[in-house]
Amino acid sequence: MKIVIGSDHGGFPVKQDIVDFLQENNYTVEDFGTYAAESCDYPDIAHKVGQAVADGEFDFGILICGTGIGVSMAANKVPGIRAAVCHDTYSARMARAHNDSNILCLGARVTGIGLMLDIVQSYLESDFEGGRHARRVDKIEG
Ligand code: RB5
Repeated sequence: MKIVIGSDHGGFPVKQDIVDFLQENNYTVEDFGTYAAESCDYPDIAHKVGQAVADGEFDFGILICGTGIGVSMAANKVPGIRAAVCHDTYSARMARAHNDSNILCLGARVTGIGLMLDIVQSYLESDFEGGRHARRVDKIEG
């Protein structure tokens, strides 16, 4: 499974830990940055990650900022993207099972790294249930 990851400076401190976790669990990971702790603008990274997922280059994206909110707002502007902010494993599971989410957004200033890795695992190991949820997901784009 191919994953693309990106963060702003708010998510930068935890990004490498998530990359390491993914690689240890046999995911193929590409890191779209940011590559340094200096302040940067989260929409730039979120749009790049969103476009790459929407283009089918990756199965899923992971975006991290301080809260997860800014990157999710920006990624959701890319047609075909269903980015979900998750601070708990139940939401992560449901984001896949009911919403067919394709980008997981995390808040490095909200969630500790241990829980964040559990959230990543729950998200990537959950499948979309389809059925009545497919009809609702189809209506999201409007
Ligand atoms: C950066 O200070 C912070 O605003 C950003 O990481 C994010 O939390 C925005 O939603």
